[in-house]
Amino acid sequence: MFNGRIIHNLNSAFRFRVSKAQGPYIWDDQGKKLIDFTSGWNVTNLGWNNPEVTDAIIAQAKKNTYVPMWTHDPIQEKYADYLASKLPKKLDVFSRETGGVNANVMAIKAARAFTGKKKIVGFSDTFHGSLYSVLEIGYKPEYLLSKSLFLSYQDYVQLKFPGVKSHDKNKESVLKKFINELEKVLQKKDVAAVVCEAGIVTGWGTTDVAPVGFLKSVRDLTRKYDALLILDEVGTGFSRCGKLFGLELENVVPDFVTFAKGMSNGALPIGTMATAKEIAESVYAKSQPQSTFGWNPVAVAAALKTLEIHNRDKVWRKAEKDGYYVMETLRNNLSNNSLVDDINGIGMEIGIQLKLDGKKISTKKIIDSVYEKGLHVCKSSETGIQLMPPLTIERKALDHGLEILVDTLNSFA
Ligand SMILES: Cc1ncc(COP(=O)(O)O)c(C=O)c1O
Repeated sequence: MFNGRIIHNLNSAFRFRVSKAQGPYIWDDQGKKLIDFTSGWNVTNLGWNNPEVTDAIIAQAKKNTYVPMWTHDPIQEKYADYLASKLPKKLDVFSRETGGVNANVMAIKAARAFTGKKKIVGFSDTFHGSLYSVLEIGYKPEYLLSKSLFLSYQDYVQLKFPGVKSHDKNKESVLKKFINELEKVLQKKDVAAVVCEAGIVTGWGTTDVAPVGFLKSVRDLTRKYDALLILDEVGTGFSRCGKLFGLELENVVPDFVTFAKGMSNGALPIGTMATAKEIAESVYAKSQPQSTFGWNPVAVAAALKTLEIHNRDKVWRKAEKDGYYVMETLRNNLSNNSLVDDINGIGMEIGIQLKLDGKKISTKKIIDSVYEKGLHVCKSSETGIQLMPPLTIERKALDHGLEILVDTLNSFA
């Protein structure tokens, strides 16, 4: 857990010192070059240290590096206008945050203030950030701490995420059952908001995929029962799932959408909660949307350039195409592999579900082994590997990474 004085995240199996990172590659401090299939967990979608983003940062740093929260820098206005032009019309104002957890907390605070209700519906085994107020949404008791330390567990309703495997034949009935469960909860009319991702769980380390229709059903039911919808796009945003934003997958318009991670391509901390002006106006007095460092002008310059590149290069199209390619390649080459249960995902957010019962092999061992051969991947759970390559990765590097993965899995089977 510790590396010297640094407290590390335990999830992703191992840690190392990064000495250099460029495009789809990172180098450890032994000079080992690794093909990266993580993007730092959906962050460096345009490749590590994207040179255009770096140039934009330098240019803005020479102009102005800070504005206090009661003022704003013109680049913030420019970015807000540009981001609004890429989102559904209703999502037209933005809070200035430093990351994903803040954006989600802000959305929950605003949803409660707007509706006058307290309950938040979410899904077990999901992740929306590491502050109490959102950790509780997806909290699984065995993950950490003790349940008694949580503040307001009774205000959170956890439903099971209706994740299905790629080969499941009963997708329709899973969706139907889920709709019934959600409707039962919402019928009580004491729910302020439902918090979810766009049909896939990217956050806590799973790539469960919901049947098509999930997001639209959640939107329809929240509308029917006067609850709000908070769509967490911290992981799915910025072309990761084959669309610029995950909300386009089912053309829904949530009441809040939150972004961070890929927003500045990891160059500087930034996040936002987008909502309707009507909601923001009515809750502002009650919900105090403020952050001293939120939307630092230099971070905004990185975000502006990032969004310009996504838009200019239509990065989501390549993500969609490459995502199919990765899943097909893995499915074709691992179809007889006794360790592999399923390969599933949306766009370039892809999971390999392993079946390790009674086997001597562990996910960590597989990940360590591919690292030795020059590939960096994340462990998503005790039986899962999560693949999130930079979306700009060229085919040769992608193929080489896939070859390492396939060979390793086949050698252990
Ligand atoms: C889906 C999702 N939401 C929210 C967060 C929290 O973002 P941050 O780490 O910027 O607070 C994460 C982080 O992994 C995430 O994956």
